[in-house]
Amino acid sequence: MANHPVFFLVYLLALATSLHSSTAVDYTVTNEVPTTPGGTIFDKELGVEYTRQQMKSASQFIWNLFRQPDPASRKNVQSVSLFIVDNLDERVVALASNNNINVSDKSIQGLTGDELKRSFNGVLYHEMTHIWQWNGNGQIGDGHLGNLTEGIADFGLKSGFVAELNAKLKDGYSPDFFFQILGKTVDQLWTDYKNIPRN
Ligand SMILES: *[C@@H]1O[C@H](CO)[C@@H](O)[C@H](O)[C@H]1NC(C)=O
Ligand SMILES: *[C@@H]1O[C@H](CO)[C@@H](O)[C@H](O)[C@H]1NC(C)=O
Ligand SMILES: [Zn+2]
Repeated sequence: MANHPVFFLVYLLALATSLHSSTAVDYTVTNEVPTTPGGTIFDKELGVEYTRQQMKSASQFIWNLFRQPDPASRKNVQSVSLFIVDNLDERVVALASNNNINVSDKSIQGLTGDELKRSFNGVLYHEMTHIWQWNGNGQIGDGHLGNLTEGIADFGLKSGFVAELNAKLKDGYSPDFFFQILGKTVDQLWTDYKNIPRN
């Protein structure tokens, strides 16, 4: 990378920027139960802005995991709405359907600090995977496919969430950074860059 390192950097930044502007997905978060114990903790320790940021990070991560750097290859979802609710079945922590994620206030109740965030983000990444994953063209009712989509969501959680957290812990440059955003390694991007015709 001796020739044009600065131009290469500009090229990477331009790619990253164009990708961001073309993939704008709306994320909305509503706490429907601000006065229940779980709802109160949500407002105090997590909040709407934090949750929206996590939804964005989760989407970015999942597209990378699914190798969908190009928006055209992703499921066509324009907006995702997350609700904190108190009306889910007792055994259900959260569920995703119709581009909605509903999180039970009971799953937030009784947790604080890092433990709360870890648990909440684990649920969020799992449910966001359901938002972005294909569902076998609507055949999700089939038992095997149901298990398969659950498996995909959990695999993303176990293998990927840890890696993303780890990458974020590095302050400063991480070689993974562009891969996370663009789905290509810096070497691949360098090769692409060198092959752009210029005069
Ligand atoms: C999720 O919560 C929203 C808002 O309360 C509601 O409209 C929707 O029906 C819920 N979805 C499920 C599957 O419970
Ligand atoms: C998933 O697998 C389990 C165990 O093999 C099975 O009992 C269940 O019916 C399958 N389907 C769903 C949707 O869980
Ligand atoms: Zn699931």
